Amino acid sequence: MDKYYLLAPGPTPVPPEVLQKMAEPIIHHRAPAYEKVLEEVREGLKYLFQTKNEVLIFASSGTGAMEGAVTNTLCAGDKALVVEGGKFGERWANICKAYGVRAQVLPVEWGQGMDPAAIGQALQADPSIKAVFTQATETSTGVLYPIKEIAEIVAEYPGTIMVVDAISHLGAVELPMDAWKLDIVVAGSQKALMLPPGLAFAALSDKAWEFVGKSTLPKFYFDFKKELKNLKQNQSAYTPAVSLVMGLAESLRMIRKEGLENVIARHAKLAKATREAMLALGLKLYAPQAYSNAVTAVVAPPGVDGQKVVKILRDKHNLTIAGGQDQAKGKIFRIANLGYVDKFDVIMAIAAVEMTLKELGYDVEMGKGVKAAMEILIKDRS
Ligand SMILES: Cc1ncc(COP(=O)(O)O)c(C=O)c1O
Repeated sequence: MDKYYLLAPGPTPVPPEVLQKMAEPIIHHRAPAYEKVLEEVREGLKYLFQTKNEVLIFASSGTGAMEGAVTNTLCAGDKALVVEGGKFGERWANICKAYGVRAQVLPVEWGQGMDPAAIGQALQADPSIKAVFTQATETSTGVLYPIKEIAEIVAEYPGTIMVVDAISHLGAVELPMDAWKLDIVVAGSQKALMLPPGLAFAALSDKAWEFVGKSTLPKFYFDFKKELKNLKQNQSAYTPAVSLVMGLAESLRMIRKEGLENVIARHAKLAKATREAMLALGLKLYAPQAYSNAVTAVVAPPGVDGQKVVKILRDKHNLTIAGGQDQAKGKIFRIANLGYVDKFDVIMAIAAVEMTLKELGYDVEMGKGVKAAMEILIKDRS
């Protein structure tokens, strides 16, 4: 029998309730039934993003909304500051480059946290910087950036916006958009939103919308102004991903029912259990201090290839996690607890990692990681 388990940092498992919604007959997107769904979705997204403003929805992967965040707020030749401590930081820099935005990279050592003071120094040295681009969780390293502190600094500069890629973060780790004065927050469907890939989201502050008014970079599908106008009438500029939006209505209902605070606490507890389990097995965390509760990056033990851990888990045990990329390739493996994940999913993943490490010749005391995790998970609060 083949039974599959998905604990990658995206795509993530989709709850049966959501799958069922998406299997319903297609409704027409210019009909009142769809408008009603979208009206509910708009409210649910505002709750999730913790913003009073509208959250735009696009039929694309998350990168589409990242691209839109650049093309809707900047002009060719503008300068931007990019926090780059992993693969997705690089993506911001690459998008800027593609559109003739001059990206000044703020390098962060992979696996390490960042000092928000570095943002202050860069902005002080060059106040012409129009945007700061960062991740909230850098998925490739499992690092959490100090978003609240960075945003406080950026908020002092009226000519600069704070743009956060929260694709692997929103709905898993705290990120109150308005309270933290974030100017753009970008998300994707296939992570903590418990949906298949295919939807991208972008929410903008009033300050960011002022930038939109002045931006001259080319844009067509990802035209934020046009999409906002349509969204306000429960419409989209182009044919929406109807089934995904219907699924989204359901997943947002589930998040509201559990309560965002509880959802975030669940992710915190599952991530803590994962970390404690790995430490109990004698392994090291790739981000020992600045870890995110969305995904746990673990250093493969000496003599064990991290890619092999991922391969054996997938091919022999039908359990998918992620490996390392670029400079972390072979050195780490990443276990996510994003979205529709509960305590027994985590226990199962840890058990599978223990078996795999044993198979690869690493001397683990089987059950030691599972026990450490269970001791966290049995508590009411982490
Ligand atoms: C932090 C982060 N940014 C961007 C992306 C890219 O998103 P997508 O593959 O949906 O375009 C991902 C996907 O893993 C991510 O984790």
